[in-house]
Amino acid sequence: MNRYWSRTVQSINPYTPGEQPKDRKYIKLNTNENPYPPSPEVIAAIKRSADASLRLYPDPTCENLRAAIAEYYRLGKEQVFIGNGSDELLAFSFPAFFEPAGKPVLFAEVTYSFYPVYAAFFNTRYRLIPVDEQFNIRPDGYYEENGGIIIANPNAPTGKGFSGKEIEAILSRNENSVVIIDEAYVDFGGRSAVNLINNYPNLLVIKTLSKSHSLAGLRVGYAMGNEGLIEGIIRVKDSFNSYTVDRLALAGAAAAIRDDAYFQETRSKIIKTRERVVTRLLEMGIKVIPSQANFIFISSDQCPGGILFQRLREKGILVRYFNKPRIDNFIRVTIGTDAEMDSFLDALAAISSTG
Ligand SMILES: Cc1ncc(COP(=O)(O)O)c(C=O)c1O
Repeated sequence: MNRYWSRTVQSINPYTPGEQPKDRKYIKLNTNENPYPPSPEVIAAIKRSADASLRLYPDPTCENLRAAIAEYYRLGKEQVFIGNGSDELLAFSFPAFFEPAGKPVLFAEVTYSFYPVYAAFFNTRYRLIPVDEQFNIRPDGYYEENGGIIIANPNAPTGKGFSGKEIEAILSRNENSVVIIDEAYVDFGGRSAVNLINNYPNLLVIKTLSKSHSLAGLRVGYAMGNEGLIEGIIRVKDSFNSYTVDRLALAGAAAAIRDDAYFQETRSKIIKTRERVVTRLLEMGIKVIPSQANFIFISSDQCPGGILFQRLREKGILVRYFNKPRIDNFIRVTIGTDAEMDSFLDALAAISSTG
C-alpha cells in the first residue's frame, strides 16, 4: 500500500498470471502455451521487419493483419479489430459495451479469472452464473436481464465446450446486450461462433494467437463482430493508446494467419496428444473433465489438488492450481509435447503410488 495510490488502485485485486519461474528447468504445463515453436514463416517475417522502419510508428489500424484475418474468416475488414493479446480486447470491451454501475454483466461461476478483475477495475457490476455438477455452462442461466455477457468457449479452466445451438439460444435472447464469446481455446476442438457474426449484431468473438499459433510471446489477439461493435472498441483504443500492436507483432501475426498448413498440423498434434493422455489418465483412475482445449482439468481421489500441484512441482513439472471453491481439488495441465506428457504421466504415477 502506498499513500499516493488512487482509491481504485488501493481496492483492486489484480489477476495473478501463471508463474514463469527461473530457479530451475521445469516442464512448463501451467500457462496453456503451445509446446511447438511458431511457424518458420512467422520468424522470417519478423526478421524481415526488424529494419530501419522501426523508427516509424506501426499502422494504428493494422490494415494488413486485419485483411489477412478477414480473408481467413470470410468477413469484412471492418468486422475485425486487432489487440495486444486478447486480454487487452477483453479489457477494452468493458468500457466499450458495459455501463459502469449498470445492470450486471453475467459470466460463469467457474471461468477465466480475469473477467471479475476487469469488472472491478472498470466499476462494472457482475453476477456469477452457476455451472452444473459436471462444470457445464447452462444457457438458461443467461436469460435473465443483464448488462452484457461473457462466455469462454471452451471454458477455462475446465476445457468444457458449448454447442453452436446453445450460443445461438443465448444470443437470440439477449438482443439488447453484447455477448462476448472468448474463443482463446476454440481451435483445439471447440465450436466457433464466427459463422453467427453476420446474423447477430450483438455478438463479439475474441480470439488469440497465443495458444493455437504458438505466439504467446508476441501478444496478438483479435476481435470479430458487427462493424458497429468494432467501431466501439476502436473508440476505446484511440482514447487509450493508438499503437497497441507493434510492427514486429503485426508482421509475425499476419504470417501466422497465412500459414494455415502449419497451424493445422500443430493443433492436430496437440489434440492427438490430449486424447492419448486422457485415455491413460482414465486408466490410472484419475478424474478428467472432457476437454476441447489445449489443457485438461483433472483430480485424483488419492491426492488433493493442492498437494498434487506441489508434488509435481518438486518433480520439475509445473501445472496450475486454483485455490478456489468448487475447483480446489483439481489441477489444470497444459498439453505439452508427447515427451513432456510422458514425463508428466510418469511423475503422476509415482505420486499416486506413494500416496
Ligand atoms: C479464456 C482466456 N481468454 C483470454 C486469455 C488471454 O490470452 P492472450 O492475452 O494471451 O491473448 C487467456 C489466457 O490464458 C484465457 O485463458
